Amino acid sequence: MQIQKIVSETKQKGKVIIRTDKLCKYYGKDIKAVDELDLEVFEGETFGLLGPNGAGKTTTVRLLNCILKPTSGTADVNGYNITENSTKVKTITGLLAESPGLYEKLSAYEFLEFMGALYNIKGTILKERIEELLSLFGLTDRKDYLLEGFSSGMKQKVLIAAALINDPSIIFFDEPTAALDPRAAHMVKDLIKGLADQLGRTVVICSHILPIVEELCDRIGIINQGRLIAVGTVDEIIAQAGTDTLEEAFIALTGGVDEKELLAWRDHS
Ligand SMILES: Nc1ncnc2c1ncn2[C@@H]1O[C@H](COP(=O)(O)OP(=O)(O)O)[C@@H](O)[C@H]1O
Ligand SMILES: [Mg+2]
Repeated sequence: MQIQKIVSETKQKGKVIIRTDKLCKYYGKDIKAVDELDLEVFEGETFGLLGPNGAGKTTTVRLLNCILKPTSGTADVNGYNITENSTKVKTITGLLAESPGLYEKLSAYEFLEFMGALYNIKGTILKERIEELLSLFGLTDRKDYLLEGFSSGMKQKVLIAAALINDPSIIFFDEPTAALDPRAAHMVKDLIKGLADQLGRTVVICSHILPIVEELCDRIGIINQGRLIAVGTVDEIIAQAGTDTLEEAFIALTGGVDEKELLAWRDHS
């Protein structure tokens, strides 16, 4: 099937809070991780960046959080340019990374204190923020316990709390449930939903897992080989791909199942 660019026709009234303009990131000469990406995210929405492994989701999020510099093209986050105003961008974004570092010999409280210090948040403001986050995530009773004794779900909660320490207006979650068991994944999903609904934050979720994106996101962008190939609500993407489900649309748009994947599967059977 010919890959078509699908553009959402939904009339969005909100202001554009993230805009990328032909954003590119190459690793060396050959790997085009992000390739002329044009993307808009609206204030207050939950936007899902969906794509197969290696599609460029993590690279995109790292560019938008100023961890990486673009090869060419650019992006604005709440009006701040990612290259010219990276310090400003960092103060208004929070990121739950795909493979985050966690200092296991610190208590939950100490870890959040440390993360606060990285943002130069100090004194009473930091104390109050930490207490608020611990309470929000039901971690107050465990705040002085070392993280090494926490379950993976609880660790993820602490990491999400850490991503919120600077009270960001945009929060990025990179594969927030991929490494969790179903119970913990469910808990994290509810937590993200709460942040989006109750706190009214702009949320960007990267995932290759369809149900989480389908359930949580107002709009989805499908990315493949560094390029945005579809964007819209679930219904819009399904309608425009001419399929019955998002899964079928995803497979059709990302070029079907690779023949090599089928052969690998046969080899192992
Ligand atoms: N540090 C790196 N050096 C070289 N290649 C990289 C690096 N990080 C990612 N890539 C490559 O860039 C492409 C996009 O990767 P990534 O952004 O991690 O995708 P995703 O998050 O969608 O799985 C892949 O081909 C990946 O192998
Ligand atoms: Mg990734």
